[in-house]
Amino acid sequence: MILRPLTGQVYEAVTGFADHLQQELGPDTVSWGPLYYREHPDGIGQGPGFWNRNSWLAPFQLTFDSIAEAATTLRGIQRNWAPTLFTQFRRGALIQSQLPSLTAKPRRFPWRLPDVPMGAWTLLDSHTMIASATCSSPFPGGIITFEEDTAGPPSRAYLKLWEALVRLRQWPGPGERCLDAGASPGGWTWALARLGARVIAVDRAPLADRVLAMPGVQWIRHDAFTLKPEDLGPIEWLCCDVIGYPARLYPWIERWLDSGLCKNCICTIKMQGKPDKEQRELSQRFAALPGSTVVHLYHNKHELTWMRALKPG
Ligand SMILES: C[S@@+](CC[C@H](N)C(=O)[O-])C[C@H]1O[C@@H](n2cnc3c(N)ncnc32)[C@H](O)[C@@H]1O
Repeated sequence: MILRPLTGQVYEAVTGFADHLQQELGPDTVSWGPLYYREHPDGIGQGPGFWNRNSWLAPFQLTFDSIAEAATTLRGIQRNWAPTLFTQFRRGALIQSQLPSLTAKPRRFPWRLPDVPMGAWTLLDSHTMIASATCSSPFPGGIITFEEDTAGPPSRAYLKLWEALVRLRQWPGPGERCLDAGASPGGWTWALARLGARVIAVDRAPLADRVLAMPGVQWIRHDAFTLKPEDLGPIEWLCCDVIGYPARLYPWIERWLDSGLCKNCICTIKMQGKPDKEQRELSQRFAALPGSTVVHLYHNKHELTWMRALKPG
């Protein structure tokens, strides 16, 4: 058995957006099915990559003789290992069967994510594994599903808010003031109100009647970007899922942060077409805000999510 650390990173492409990842990584990339390996990630294009559902932060190559040896080696490092196989499916399944099982069942929100590392591995051939004990996503293969509510929320957009809150390991408590910008038809507002929060929902379009009727929900028919922080006062959570206008988004967020009137933020950065230089720079500016992270959530579509929590979860 030979274990050799690699000096680059492995990235798992987001289904349907492999071209976005390839653009970020540039030409010097090795591809293994949905996985892309690149040396020296600090040198990537114009900055860190966002269009991946998981990146393997400390990969190593394991050359092994037997299935038992591969599984024993992983088990000796830590408990949790999720496979991403693109070849050697039968052999891969046999290795996984000798590792502690990972539940694939949908989670019931709110769910407190355990603070344990989630590893990842794949097989290049029958005796060569690439694995990493630390990954950017806390979910197996970057995937999380929830027990969905098909009656309450008027859209499925609440799933990305739930995923962001689980990743932050915190969520609004009863009575906390939240701003939901771009709130119609009301999926996010529904999710926030169900936690007992007081929600100021801002959108020119109305919310579904059943969401408007929830305790603590107030709808303001307005352009969110022309509402000043001082107009609304202190809020615990700034949530924004406004469609379009990425260039208006950043100065508006900056204004909120400068005002000191908001604590935690979850904000969707919508893309228009393949991310161009301007959109990449915008994502990088969000990622550079102190205490921030920009990720492609499993429930995101053609968009990224910027998150910031004042206290670590
Ligand atoms: C993707 S939808 C939001 C879905 C919502 N988060 C949910 O869970 O149901 C985007 C919303 O942004 C709203 N919107 C677009 N520009 C806006 C602006 N400048 N101010 C407020 N809302 C805006 C649209 O009217 C639309 O309802």
